Amino acid sequence: MGKLSAAITAVGAYVPEFVMTNKMLEDLVDTNDEWITTRTGIKERRILKEEGAGTSYMAIKAAEDLIKKRGIDPKEIDLVLVGTATPDTLVASTAAFVASEIGATNAFAFDLLAACSSFLFGMSTAAGFIESGKYKKVLLIGADKMSSIIDYKDRTTCIIFGDGAGAALFEPNEEGLGMQDEYLRSDGNGRAYLSMNGGGSIMPATEESVKNKQHYIFQDGKTVFKFAVSNMADAAAEIMERNSLTHDDIAWLVPHQANKRIIDATANRMGLDHDSVMMNIQKYGNTTSATLPLLLNDYEKQLKKGDNLVFAAFGGGFTWGSIYLKWAYNSK
Ligand code: UT7
Repeated sequence: MGKLSAAITAVGAYVPEFVMTNKMLEDLVDTNDEWITTRTGIKERRILKEEGAGTSYMAIKAAEDLIKKRGIDPKEIDLVLVGTATPDTLVASTAAFVASEIGATNAFAFDLLAACSSFLFGMSTAAGFIESGKYKKVLLIGADKMSSIIDYKDRTTCIIFGDGAGAALFEPNEEGLGMQDEYLRSDGNGRAYLSMNGGGSIMPATEESVKNKQHYIFQDGKTVFKFAVSNMADAAAEIMERNSLTHDDIAWLVPHQANKRIIDATANRMGLDHDSVMMNIQKYGNTTSATLPLLLNDYEKQLKKGDNLVFAAFGGGFTWGSIYLKWAYNSK
C-alpha cells in the first residue's frame, strides 16, 4: 500500500443571483467604476438578498452541487467543515446545520474561523483527518455572507466584498496525488487592522456599539495591503523553494481574491505569467472563505490529473500561508 495522501476529488459552488455592479455602488458612496477597477480589479460582486437566508443557505447549495457532480450518497461523508467569517449565528455550529440539511447524517461537523485563510487552513485540517486513515470523505466548504457585516456607506470596504460559497471533497489517494506540502502562519497583532469588533465577547452588542457602527467590518486597507503582498508572496516562494518547484513546474497559482494587485505581485514573485494564474475577482469580488473553492469550480474543466497547484491566501488575524497540491482528476 502506498503512502496515504489527501486528494480533492470533487468541487461545487454557489453564488447568489443578485449582481451588484460598480455602477450601483456609485449611487451608494462616493466612488466610481474606474477607481474600483484600477485599484482592485473588481467589476461586480454577488449579494445574497433572500429574506432570512444566512451563510448556510449558500454552503448547502454548494455542497449539494458537489454531491450531485460526484454522485455520492451524503451518508458516506465522515466530516463536514465550514470555513467562514460570517457564521449563521454565534454558538450553534453552522457546519452542524449544513451537515443535517444535506443529509450527512453519519458525519460530525464544525466551523473553522480564520477569515480569508479559512479555506486554506481548512485544507490542512481536512488532509489531517484523511491522512490519519480514520476518515474517507471530508467535505470542506468555504462560505461567507460578507454583505451581512458591510456598511454600505463605507466606500473603503463596501466596494471589495461579495457573497458566495464553494466546496471541495477530500478523499484518500495512494498515487501520490493531493496535498504535498503546506506553509501556514498567523500573527495576532494583525487584528488591529482588520476586524469586526462588536458582537464578540469583548464587546457584546449594546445600543452604543450599534450606534458606533461596530458590527461592521473595519479595515485599514493600506496596512493590510502591505502585509498581504509580502506575506502571500513570501509563503508561495517558500513552498516553491522547499519543494524545488520552478515556475515551469506550476500549472496554476490559486490565489485568494482580495485585490488584483496583490495577486499580480504574488505571481510576479513566483515568475508566473497570467495564463497560469486563476482569477475571478472581476465577477465575485472578495468572498473571504469562498474565494479558493470558487476558483477551483470555475477552472475545474481546465485542470488535469497531476497538475501542480500552489494555493496562497492572506486574511484577518492576520492569517496566511501557501499549500502545494497535485490535482487528482480530469473533469468529464
Ligand atoms: O481579504 C483580506 C485581506 N484584505 C486585503 O488584502 C485588502 C488589502 N487592501 C486593499 O486591497 C486596498 O488597500 C484597498 C482596495 C482597500 C484600497 O486601495 P488603496 O490603493 O490602498 O487606496 P488607499 O486606501 O490608499 O486610498 C487612496 C485614496 C484615498 O484618498 P486620498 O487620501 O488619497 O485623498 C482614499 O480616501 O482613495 C480614496 N478611496 C476611494 N476613492 C474612490 C478609498 N476608497 C475609495 C473608493 N472610491 N471606494
